[in-house]
Amino acid sequence: MKKKTVRDAQVSGKRVLLRVDFNVPFVPKTTVIADDTRIQAVLPTIRYLKKRGASLVVCSHLGRPNGKVVKDMRLDSVAHRFEALLGEPIVHVRECIGPAVQQAVKELGPGEVLLLENLRFYPEEEKNDPEFAKALASLADIYVNDAFGASHRAHASINAITRFLPAYAGLQMEKELKMLGATLENPARPLGAIMGGAKISDKINVLHNLVQRVDRLFIGGGMAATFFKAQGLQVGSSLVEEESIGVAQDILKKAQSNSVKLFLPEDVVISKTFAGDAPHKDMDVARVPPGWMIMDIGPETARLFAREMRECRTLVWNGPMGVFEWEVFSQGTRAIAETMADMNNAITVVGGGSTAEAVEELGLTNAMNHVSMGGGASLEFLEGRDLPGISTLPDKDGD
Ligand code: 3PG
Repeated sequence: MKKKTVRDAQVSGKRVLLRVDFNVPFVPKTTVIADDTRIQAVLPTIRYLKKRGASLVVCSHLGRPNGKVVKDMRLDSVAHRFEALLGEPIVHVRECIGPAVQQAVKELGPGEVLLLENLRFYPEEEKNDPEFAKALASLADIYVNDAFGASHRAHASINAITRFLPAYAGLQMEKELKMLGATLENPARPLGAIMGGAKISDKINVLHNLVQRVDRLFIGGGMAATFFKAQGLQVGSSLVEEESIGVAQDILKKAQSNSVKLFLPEDVVISKTFAGDAPHKDMDVARVPPGWMIMDIGPETARLFAREMRECRTLVWNGPMGVFEWEVFSQGTRAIAETMADMNNAITVVGGGSTAEAVEELGLTNAMNHVSMGGGASLEFLEGRDLPGISTLPDKDGD
């Protein structure tokens, strides 16, 4: 762990500007938060700072309001849930900068928490505007980034802010960097990566990076169809990304030249229509009939993947194996999650977004060593890229 964290900061009696990622999902057409994991994730940092007598100015974005005030994207519901989870009242203001905010900050005592309004109501936020960052910085003595999920964005509260305040990583950020980092730097081997999801095009750079680093690469999900096509197999009416066939061929070649054991499904669950109640059957991948589409990996494949995964000492997983939202096509994803959950002798890391959702739905989040809070951010991290919210955080002395 190279970055300075809150543990390295003198926080007693200081005001801390804490950037979090409270971009939580809502039950459609309501103001009810559907999943508050992202709020829960930063409570350790908040408690750590409160306990040491810091006062906290917490800030976050929510949704994509495009630099305008959007009523439904105010942080009111988030503030209520935050308060309930913290178990004590917080102050919530309707702006991020300006005299009213300055006044609220002035009145904040040690251990007290103030939540600012949605940062993205200000167009300057997404422009990484230094003046906006400076105005935010004027609210505090120290800046802490605990928003891993937003750290792939070069935004004012993530990137420019670090020019104006001493900056540190929060405890959730520290965990993300340690656990995701453990899959890329000096991993316990064999290192296995399980890649799924609908499209190769979303994950080209991750595949290219991982095929140079892993010992075993398991491919499932919709993207497997493009790999099959690249191998000359018929895939019925499955979605094939014609423009990514070359990428698939390249990954297959690189796996071979890097001595990576690459596993593709040997059997698949197929269906005639894209529906949760459609008739379906298990089929050898070489025999997918015209008019049928691949919806999940099959049971033979799930067993094969599980057997090979069990020999790994580090596993990283990004992307479901099938259309897991529908029970009948969720078995492959379930099998991967259960195998990982059962591996006490390996480090198990799950990328954020839909993979994290699947693991959460299966009730297996706590059985993993780490489930990332970042969707896009964890993908970019696994691509091996510098994230603008992370590269800007100072390293520990001597690193
Ligand atoms: C996320 O949900 O992945 C983060 O909060 C980032 O959100 P964004 O994709 O709107 O920048």
